Amino acid sequence: MTATAARPADTLVARQATTRHFLMCPPEYFTVEYAINPWMNPDQPVDTALAMAQWQELKDTYVRLGHAVDTIEPQPGLPDMVFAANSGTVIEGRVLGSKFRAPERAAEAEHFRRWFVTRGHRDLVMPTRINEAEGDFAWTGEVLLAGTGFRTDPAAHAEAQEALGVPVVSLNLVDARYYHLDTALFVLDKGPNAQIAYYPDAFSAGSRRVLARMFPDAVIADEADASCLGLNGVSDGHHVVLPAEATGLAKQLEDRGYEVIGLDISELRKSGGGPKCCTMELHA
Ligand code: ARG
Repeated sequence: MTATAARPADTLVARQATTRHFLMCPPEYFTVEYAINPWMNPDQPVDTALAMAQWQELKDTYVRLGHAVDTIEPQPGLPDMVFAANSGTVIEGRVLGSKFRAPERAAEAEHFRRWFVTRGHRDLVMPTRINEAEGDFAWTGEVLLAGTGFRTDPAAHAEAQEALGVPVVSLNLVDARYYHLDTALFVLDKGPNAQIAYYPDAFSAGSRRVLARMFPDAVIADEADASCLGLNGVSDGHHVVLPAEATGLAKQLEDRGYEVIGLDISELRKSGGGPKCCTMELHA
């Protein structure tokens, strides 16, 4: 044995960005006026203008990286509509809408359904079970990783498999701070050699074993990375957008050849959201 630690098998792979199509919603009416996750405290003041500036920076970053970004009209009275990832799962032209657990967010689903219809998406199914879309679904290009435990109903996983025609792997979330899958895991690279980053403590023991089996070389985040919502990242296969505080995770990704862009998302985090929550990907 030499003194050099074993490096992950994919360390020397050349990172290849692919162009993405995103849907976002400006946080025009963003506030924290109810609490449906442990991050939300309605007594804490929120600066909506600052949230808008942080969101704009995120959108501008995607555009600068060459991605296509569509936006949907924000609606008064729907302060969480900025979290577009929760309103649809789109894979190869098929759209599965959403059905929110909290009554405060229920009306968002219909606004997004109409957006899809107006844009000519014919292959659209609305779920019958609680389904918070990309909040709990992560597409690897081969399988749909699906979270449950706090929001999305486990029965929605089977519904997603049927509607989208892709294999679904169910994962159990066990820590209320990581109430959506996308607060604890994200996809770095899509395709047959898909790679992910995740925070193991957010998952049940069985789900941790599933993830270790499927992704033996995954990037493992620690508590410091997770607790700034560092796992709420967005990767195009080369560039990875992260909350700026996730410095340990950023270092690990840079060691593997990714280019990390750290952004300030402090206002959006007051609602329990980060870059990924604000970004629905329309997967080609
Ligand atoms: N306040 C929102 C909620 O609790 C935040 C949603 C964040 N979105 C996400 N994809 N994790 O529903």
